[in-house]
Amino acid sequence: MNPQRVLDELARHQLVDGYPLVVDLERSEGSWIIDAASGEKYLDAFTCFASMPLGYNHPGMMDADYLQTLKLASLCNVSNADLYSVEMAQFVDAFATHATPEDFNHHFWIAGGGLAVENAMKAAFDWKARLLGRNDFADNVNDLAIVHFKEAFHGRTGYTMSVTNTLPDKVGLFPKFDWPRISNPTVEFDLDGNICNDIEALENQAYAELDAVFAAGSPTHDRVAGILIEPMQGEGGDNHFRPEFLARLRDYADTNQCLLLYDEVQSGFFGSGKPWMWQHHGVAPDIAAFGKKSQVCGIYAGPRMDEVEHNVFRRSSRINSTWGGNLVDMVRSRRYIEIIVADGLCDHVLNLGEHVIAGMREIARSTGAFSNVRGVGSLIACSFDTAEARDSLVRDLFNHKVIALPCGSRSMRFRLPLIMQQEEADILLNAVESAVSRAVSA
Ligand SMILES: Cc1ncc(COP(=O)(O)O)c(C=O)c1O
Repeated sequence: MNPQRVLDELARHQLVDGYPLVVDLERSEGSWIIDAASGEKYLDAFTCFASMPLGYNHPGMMDADYLQTLKLASLCNVSNADLYSVEMAQFVDAFATHATPEDFNHHFWIAGGGLAVENAMKAAFDWKARLLGRNDFADNVNDLAIVHFKEAFHGRTGYTMSVTNTLPDKVGLFPKFDWPRISNPTVEFDLDGNICNDIEALENQAYAELDAVFAAGSPTHDRVAGILIEPMQGEGGDNHFRPEFLARLRDYADTNQCLLLYDEVQSGFFGSGKPWMWQHHGVAPDIAAFGKKSQVCGIYAGPRMDEVEHNVFRRSSRINSTWGGNLVDMVRSRRYIEIIVADGLCDHVLNLGEHVIAGMREIARSTGAFSNVRGVGSLIACSFDTAEARDSLVRDLFNHKVIALPCGSRSMRFRLPLIMQQEEADILLNAVESAVSRAVSA
C-alpha cells in the first residue's frame, strides 16, 4: 500500500485520531522516526508512550540467532499460560534474573498494562478475602476496596477504571466502584532541584485521609485489600513522591493487613536508570505491575502473598488468560534485557537524564517559560503556567519534528529512548529553546 493512503484507508474503518504520520518500520532508526508518507524525520521523545526502550532497528535486534527465535515464536501463537516452550523459559529466566528484584518469587504474565494492574488488584482481593476467612467462592466480597490516589492513571479496564482519575473522558459513563481516593502529595522542584513546596503539609493531608479510611468504625477500616500507587504518576502529571511518603504507605499496608501495590507500567523496566522506579526510593511493594517497555506485561509479587496458603500464584485458574503474554513479546523482551544489561544502558540513561534536566533548567532559568523541571533517567518533565502554553509548545515541537507528550493539567513530559545519544539530547534541548522563543515572539 502506498504510505500516503494509510491514514485515509484506516479512517474508512476506524477512528484515526493519532499522529498524522505513518511510521516507516524499515528506515526509522534509533531515536528517529521516519514518516513513510512524507519522508520527514522526527526526533522521538515519546517512545510510543514510554513503551520502546531501544528505539528503532537497534543493531542488536538484527542478531541472526535472535531473528531465528523471533521467527519461530511468531509462526504459531501458543497459549503460554498452559503450553510451555524453551523460548518462554529463556525469557522468564532473563526477566527474573535481571529485572525482578530479589525476594519476589511470583510472576504472572499478560498482554496490556491495564490488565497487569487489574491482576495485581485481583491478587490483592483474593489475598484479603482469605485473610478475612472468606474462602468459599460463594462468599460475598463486594465490600473489599483498593485505596488509590488523585491524578492516578492505571488503565481503562474493568477494575482499573475505578482507580484511574485523570481525565473524565477515560472513565466517565462506565460503572465503577466507589473506593477511597486519597490526595496525592506531589513534590515540586526549584531550578536547583530542591523541593520548593510545602510537601509535609501535603503529606499530612494524605495521612489524615488514610487515617480516616483505616479508623476503627469506618466501613473500610478492615476491608482494604491494597494501597495502589504509581511510584511516579505519569499520565497524571509526572508527579513525584518523597521516599518518606512511600515508606509511610508501606507502614499503613503492614499495620492494616493490606498489600502495597505499585503500578510501574510507565515508570518501570529500566526507564528510570534502575530496573524499577521504587528502587530509587528504597521502599519495596508487595506486588508491582509492569508493562510498556517490558513488552510482556504482568506482575511480580513477594513473600507476603504466602501469608495466605491458596493465593492466586499457587491456586490454578484464579488469574489467567489464554496466551498469558505473547511469545513474540517474550522473545523481544529477553533480547531487550540482554542489550540493556550488556550495553550498560542504566548508567547511560541516568547520565543522559541529568544532561537533559540540566539543559531544561538552563532554558527555564533564562526564559522563565516553564518551571518544576523534574525527572530521572528517561522520564523527564516540566510544568507551564497554563494548559494553553503547554499545549501550544507541544504542538509547535511536533510541527518542528520533535514528538513530546503532555501530561497532567499543564505539564510536558519526555519519554526518551534509553539509547539516545547526548548529541540527540542537545537537538531536543535546542528544539525546546527555539519553540520557547517562537512562543515569546508570537
Ligand atoms: C501507570 C500506567 N498504568 C497502566 C497503564 C495502562 O497500560 P495499557 O495502556 O498498556 O493498558 C498505563 C498506560 O499509559 C500507565 O501509564
